[in-house]
Parts: sequence; structure tokens; C-alpha cells
Amino acid sequence: MKILFATNNAHKLAEVRAVLGDDFTLVTPRDCGVTEEVPETQPTLEGNAAQKARYLYERTGCDCFADDTGLEVEALGGAPGVHSARYATDGHDFAANNRLLLRNLEGAANRRARFRTVICLILGGEEHFFEGIVEGRIAERESGTEGFGYDPLFVPDGSDRSFARMSAEEKNALSHRGRAVRRLADYLHKLTK
Ligand code: IMP
Repeated sequence: MKILFATNNAHKLAEVRAVLGDDFTLVTPRDCGVTEEVPETQPTLEGNAAQKARYLYERTGCDCFADDTGLEVEALGGAPGVHSARYATDGHDFAANNRLLLRNLEGAANRRARFRTVICLILGGEEHFFEGIVEGRIAERESGTEGFGYDPLFVPDGSDRSFARMSAEEKNALSHRGRAVRRLADYLHKLTK
């Protein structure tokens, strides 16, 4: 079965391919002739995932899915949330985002946080949503060199190491995106059985 995934990010593509397995051929927007940036202008993760999936479905008519992720910090009222990519600047400046997060949490006793991923799948024109959450806390300082984004600051519950100190396999087993994609995979595998 061929399915279009709304990303041109090779890292994400490899991660999702590994979970979905060989029953599915994942293609990218570029493979389908969509070269412009897919819009994500909604105020929620659900809204953005749906906006991206609908945009691709309308352009290509292909079964497709899109994801959106946010880091939700309790003491900051859920921020940066849907603005996680552009927390400190307009670009995707991971180092600046991490510095701002640490500054905003200076002296905070409550450092609880979670990553949340929402996936919107459009299959035969019908929409389905899948969610993956990992609970944890924001460390006092960055550690580790693996992964990306807020990984050097996020320590998942049950561990004393940040995501940036874990292998890709270890992180995938625990992570928000890993969980959401496994739910999507379970759903798709049941349909094809
Ligand atoms: P996206 O929706 O997957 O593009 O994620 C939006 C932003 O959330 C990214 O630019 C990162 O800053 C952050 N983010 C998403 N997933 C992760 C992750 O697994 N680790 C660390 N940061 C992440």
C-alpha cells in the first residue's frame, strides 16, 4: 500500500519507515510533485496536522498523513506547545529555543513537561487522529549530543538521562512520535490483514 507522509525531513521519514515496515511504501510530497511548503498556521497541534494532511489530499488525491509535535511545559501554562519550532526566533533555532526555555524556567520548582505528537491520517477521504505523549521534566542544563530540538533538556519519566543521551532506538521506544506512529501502524496493519 502506498501512503504519502507530509514531510521532506529524511530523519523523520526513516523513523516512520522503520515503524511501519515493508507493507507500506512511504512517499514524500516532493515525490508527488508538491514542492511548495505545506502550510501549518493553526493554533493547535490537531489543527496543524489536519491542515497539512488536507492540503496534500486536495493536491494529490492520495491517502496521506501528517504530524505535528509540541513541548508542553506545566509551569509555562503549556508553552511553547504549538509554537515549539519558533519559540525564540522565527527560524528553527534549537540552541536559542533551549536557552529561552532555561531562562523562562529559572528558579522554577515545577519542571514537569511533556512532548505531544498528533497525527492526522486521511484514508479514502476519511480523517483519523492518533496521539502519542511522553511525560518528563526539563533539566537544569543541557546534556547529550544525540537527537534534535529540545532533546538535550528533556528527561523522560523513569530515566535520569535526557533524550539527547539516548540512542535513536532507545528514544523511539519511549518517545511521543514513536508512540503516535505505532498507533498509526497498528491501525493500518489491522486494515490490511
Ligand atoms: P514538528 O512538528 O515535528 O516539526 O516539531 C516542532 C518542534 O518541536 C521542532 O522544531 C522541535 O523544536 C520540537 N520537537 C519535535 N519533536 C521533538 C523531539 O523528538 N525532540 C526534541 N524536540 C522536538
